[in-house]
Amino acid sequence: MRLDVVSIFPEYLAALDLSLIGKARRDGLLEMSVTDLRDFTADRHRTVDDTPYGGGAGMVMKPEPWAQALEQIRDSTPGSRGDQPGGPARSQRPVLIVPSPAGEVFTQETARELAERDHLVFACGRYEGIDERVLEWARESFEVRPMSLGDYVLNGGEVAVLAMVEAIGRLIPGVIGNPQSLVEESHSDGLLEYPVYTKPASWRERGIPEVLLSGHHGKIARWRRDEQLRRTSSRRPDLIERLQPADLDARDRAA
Ligand code: ADE
Repeated sequence: MRLDVVSIFPEYLAALDLSLIGKARRDGLLEMSVTDLRDFTADRHRTVDDTPYGGGAGMVMKPEPWAQALEQIRDSTPGSRGDQPGGPARSQRPVLIVPSPAGEVFTQETARELAERDHLVFACGRYEGIDERVLEWARESFEVRPMSLGDYVLNGGEVAVLAMVEAIGRLIPGVIGNPQSLVEESHSDGLLEYPVYTKPASWRERGIPEVLLSGHHGKIARWRRDEQLRRTSSRRPDLIERLQPADLDARDRAA
């Protein structure tokens, strides 16, 4: 998979050299490059923002540096040039992800879907956001997806990109050593993960649930499933409501 990130703070993305994502880059599973938006300005101050039409607080990111940065990325991608008649085929288009509190919510399902794509481009806005015409223009060559991490406001898209790249990158085959750990984690089956414990069995006068010491795999599996249901009902009742009847077995319904 190829990843491009455009930002006025490229240093923010240095964290993607670390840990599993950094290893995936070194192993050639992920090819990533970070572009400084200010390299596409023409004035002495390398200006990327201006006042909003219609007035109001804050500044808006100017369209031209964005167009030039995205054109350079687009034109270095085989098969994705926007100058072909009718534009490139939908499946060949890179996905342009624009982190924004006004986007669709990024979920595990979104991460799974994006992990299948060949080329993701992240456009990190700052201030009040990017001139809307950039997103309209970009639709000729990219599949444009404004994406929100959740209902709160960050100062810019960079931190959201760190979270999204980690969530997507770990789903690429080969990035996580033991793929079974992807099956047993929160959100993989629409529920939150069960509680986990490690040695010692007694710690500061606190024990662990007896069943985990029983060696009885069926009972342990049932206990874990019940804990998932209990935890999800109490912390995230919205997730329980979204479950389909087929997601629950007879024992779940009784629990
Ligand atoms: N940029 C600012 N706030 C954001 C959010 N909640 N999600 C994604 N990008 C953002």
